[in-house]
Amino acid sequence: MSIVAILTSPRSGANCETVVNAIAESAKANGKDVKFFNVSKMQNKNGCISCFGCKKSGNCVQKDDIRELLEAVKSSEGIIVSAPVYFGQPCAQYRIFEDRMFSFLDPAFNLFIEKGKKVAVVTAAGSGGAQELADQIEGRFVNFFKFAPVGKIAMVTANAPDYAAKNPDILKAAAEIGKKF
Ligand SMILES: Cc1cc2nc3c(=O)[nH]c(=O)nc-3n(C[C@H](O)[C@H](O)[C@H](O)COP(=O)(O)O)c2cc1C
Repeated sequence: MSIVAILTSPRSGANCETVVNAIAESAKANGKDVKFFNVSKMQNKNGCISCFGCKKSGNCVQKDDIRELLEAVKSSEGIIVSAPVYFGQPCAQYRIFEDRMFSFLDPAFNLFIEKGKKVAVVTAAGSGGAQELADQIEGRFVNFFKFAPVGKIAMVTANAPDYAAKNPDILKAAAEIGKKF
């Protein structure tokens, strides 16, 4: 079983990616295997089509790149998930992934996936909303999908793409979170 690292920001090498990488490197140093998915770079990705087909099988009917990510999350022991704040919300690429996780829930909202997977959350904003978004994402994973939270990093003034890379405190906090996987 491995850890799944989920990138959604379209800015390659910017803040979310820097912090996800730092968490992943620390988890790897702890003996974990980490598999990366970059939703922005996926060529074949679709939003949930609300067909409710997943409610019969626990699998999304759409066989695209997001389905591969869902399968990886399903068989993982934990995830590192990230999203930038766009107009006070998570970016669209994150929302595509999140809606497709509807397939993890049966008609009574019981889980098709195992409980107790670990989750670390990374968010970034230019001027505000990162903490609220991190709390919201973590809450969704805990309340709907019964993940166990291992930490979150919310960057509030992260418009410069190298904000995290230049902030040793953030990288240190990321390394600490990685040890919890
Ligand atoms: C379309 C768009 C909308 C944004 N909306 C907000 C916003 O509502 N609030 C905010 O603080 N920053 C906003 N930002 C800034 C990003 O959240 C910020 O640059 C963030 O650090 C991006 O993360 P990244 O460095 O990992 O790409 C927006 C940026 C874009 C491109």
